Amino acid sequence: MTPQAPQPSAEGLAEPMRSRWSASVYDDSHRLTDSEIQTLLHAAQWAPSAGNSQPWVFFVCVPGTANHDRLVATLSRGNSGWVPRASVVFVTAAHVRTGEEADAPAYSDYALHDVGQAAAHLTLQARAMGLHAHQFAGFDHEALAEALGVPPTHQLLTGIAVGVPGDPADVDERTAARDHRDRVRRPLSHWAFGGRFDEDGVRDDWQTPRP
Ligand SMILES: Cc1cc2nc3c(=O)[nH]c(=O)nc-3n(C[C@H](O)[C@H](O)[C@H](O)COP(=O)(O)O)c2cc1C
Repeated sequence: MTPQAPQPSAEGLAEPMRSRWSASVYDDSHRLTDSEIQTLLHAAQWAPSAGNSQPWVFFVCVPGTANHDRLVATLSRGNSGWVPRASVVFVTAAHVRTGEEADAPAYSDYALHDVGQAAAHLTLQARAMGLHAHQFAGFDHEALAEALGVPPTHQLLTGIAVGVPGDPADVDERTAARDHRDRVRRPLSHWAFGGRFDEDGVRDDWQTPRP
């Protein structure tokens, strides 16, 4: 088990949620097989979506390929030290509009929800395969959309780096320190409401019978 998971309130969760966390130190010599990459994509493929609209696109960026070069060139400074070391990086986009014009009707009102859900499925499938996954948004979205030829009907969203843990001695100190950051969460009482948003009293009493 990693030192970062499970945190106390995650101890009762099923795997792979229980042991998931966003690792940043990857073994840059590790490669996934095509079949493993395909299995990760199948996890996204079988995510639920509104009206089965499946509004996602996943760009696959394997080290040594043109897509990987395109991604690496646009990474933020904070992400450029660790993302390129992952075995594969997926970049997600959502089908947001039915036409190229900015005011074209939405493809689906829930496209962003659905792409996030597909990303979550891929992330958890990675953990179930003994891999780590780390989602990120720190890259130049405009530049990468252009480099990947993303049409105006689609919106580039996030990256998901997937790989196996590496040796902290192989990376700079700042990157190594990232794997030891505190993992904290807002308590349930702040966001799981048994009543109205503005009803403090019932926030953490979800089964209060109606008055
Ligand atoms: C949409 C999104 C964007 C994120 N962007 C970055 C990022 O640019 N760089 C980074 O290191 N982590 C990024 N993260 C990872 C989060 O910081 C991380 O999931 C959060 O701190 C919780 O930690 P955990 O995943 O280990 O539980 C991002 C996560 C999401 C979902």
